[in-house]
Formats: sequence, C-alpha cells, structure tokens
Amino acid sequence: MKINLNPNSHPASDADRTEKIAVGGFGKYYTDNMVIAEWTEADGWGDAELKAYGPLLIDPATSVLHYGQEIFEGLKAYSQPDGGVSLFRPEANAERFRKSATRLALPELPIADFVATVEALVRQDRAWVPKNIGESLYIRPFMFGSEVGLGVRPSNRATYLVITTPASAYFNPGKAVTVWISTEYVRAAPGGTGSAKTGGNYAGSLLAQKQAAAEGCDQVVWLDAIERKWVEEMGGMNLFFVKGSGASATVFTPKLTGTLLAGVTRDSILTVAQDLGYKVEEGAISTDQWHAGVTSGEITEVFACGTAAVITPVGAAKSAQGIWPTGDGNPGPITNQIRETLLGIQHGTIEDKHGWNKRVS
Ligand code: COI
Repeated sequence: MKINLNPNSHPASDADRTEKIAVGGFGKYYTDNMVIAEWTEADGWGDAELKAYGPLLIDPATSVLHYGQEIFEGLKAYSQPDGGVSLFRPEANAERFRKSATRLALPELPIADFVATVEALVRQDRAWVPKNIGESLYIRPFMFGSEVGLGVRPSNRATYLVITTPASAYFNPGKAVTVWISTEYVRAAPGGTGSAKTGGNYAGSLLAQKQAAAEGCDQVVWLDAIERKWVEEMGGMNLFFVKGSGASATVFTPKLTGTLLAGVTRDSILTVAQDLGYKVEEGAISTDQWHAGVTSGEITEVFACGTAAVITPVGAAKSAQGIWPTGDGNPGPITNQIRETLLGIQHGTIEDKHGWNKRVS
C-alpha cells in the first residue's frame, strides 16, 4: 500500500500541543493528522493518504451506521529515554485486526500495511507523544463497511483509518477498581464475535456497565454465556489472579475459549510474569472459586489488563451474593511489579528481551 503524505498545513502550535498533552485523559484531543485508505470489492485496497485530522462526510445510508460492520485496534507509542519513539508490538495488533476483519466479513489489511500506516502517522505526529512514564500516544486504527445501501450483506466497500490521541493513565494507577459480576447480561457467546475487536461487543456491554455503576462499581465482569459461572473478562480488559505470594506465586488468567478477546497486554504479561520467575497458568476460574480464593487468602491479588489502562488492580468484586475484597483492597506487590516491568520495557528503561518495541523515530 502506497502512503501519500499530505500532512496538515496548519498543525497545532507548540503551546497548544503542549497544553493538550498536559490535559491528558483518554481520547480528549487528537493529533494533527490521520491516515485513510479505501477498499472496494472490485479494485482491492487503494493508496493510503496521510492528511489533516478532520471529520468524514458520511452518507446516511452507509452500511456501518445500520449494521455495525466495524473493527478497531488499540496500541500505543511510547517516548524513549533518548527522546525517540517506539511502538509496542504493532504486529500483534495487526494480526488481531486481520482476524477481526475475517470474523466481520471485512477485507483483510496486510500486516505490513497496518504497521506502515501506523508508523507513518506516529512519525509525522511524534511531537504529540507524551514524555512521562505511564503516558503515551494511543493509536486507534479502525475499519468499517462504507457501502451505501440498506441491504444486509458484507459491504463491497470498506474504509480504514488511523487516528491518534495523547493519553495519560486511563484509570488512576494507584487506585484499585471495584467490579460488578454480571449474571444478567453476557458479553459473548460461543460462535459469536467475542474474540473480535468489534464495536458491537462494546455497545452490548454498556447497559451492564451502567448497572455496575448503579451498584457503586467501576467496571463489569463478564461470565460465560452458558453456565454463567466461569469468569471471562472485565469491561474491555482481560483479568488476572495471583495465587500465593512471593517467589512461589502463580499468575493465573482465564484461558482463551473463543469468547474472550486475546489481549496483547494479556499475552505480554504472561511472558513478563514468567521472566520475573512466577509460574503462569491459563485455565478456568468460577465465581465460587474467586470468592473462596479471596476469602481463604489463596488468591492474594486480582488485576485487569489492556492497552489503554495497561494494568488496573481490582480491589473488590461485588455480586448478588455480596462483596469480596481482594486482600486489604489495595494494589498488591506482584501487580505493581508486573506493571512497572511492562511500563519499563515499553518506555525503554528495562531491557526489551523479546524484541517488542519497534522504533519509529
Ligand atoms: C483496552 O484496554 O485497551 C481496551 O480495549 C479498552 C479500549 C476499548 C478503550
């Protein structure tokens, strides 16, 4: 895919950009440019264009607005100690984007094109990458069916875009979240779209998220659709449980059954935890086992992970059966250690043994 560079001729001033980066948040401000490319069934992918960030003109009958044929990714660029910028595992996101596209009957974007378009945009807008540890430039590639028409069929036209936004911590990193275990709603069922990163999964989660908030919780925990007993995910993030403590602890996460999203952060944590000397295990954990584990003290820490928030400690779970605090409710030492190690690798202050960082500038 050729990328035609036609950058914004009126980028933000240094003062404006500095102020927007300092505000941080998540998705509050967008950088000067974006990338856009179009695919048609007849001609395949056209050239990509890097151009000024701005609104799209969308026909009201565009298929995505009606039937939700859409996929997205989330990855980050981190500032490095020498002032450069690295992407974290962009090929892993490219591969998941390819799989999501297949599930949503959208065209596959070759991995090299995904990575090249992301790199081109981050290189162009590198001045927007925040400098502090824990802050980053969040990159949002996405694709949608852009055929105009109301027939329910795979779109014969697709639009791919990449936008970026400076991000500070998604949640307050020092604070543990409280989660609501939803038995009323499910996120994903076998054969559904749970393992694809598609907007509909998030749309379907919002009512349960509202219910969690009404219960005084920050996030919702999803159980399996059939038995409503096996723990799957938290909000848009994967979950981890620490069993035991110290050097003999086991870092456990629900296995990928086809209904869970295969998080890049999840995968990275499994490796980092092993590098740190912990046993790691992927398996099944029921809500009863969660309750019994935190009550007996066998489960010492619980945390969630994702690209946006990296690692978020879970201080307590609440369900119709009651509240189950994790330990003393504060972020645990292994959670903190894994978080600091991962952030250190991403920011280039800890050795990148697995070649995860891809330098872009
Ligand atoms: C992440 O944790 O990165 C997510 O997937 C949440 C995101 C959709 C904001």
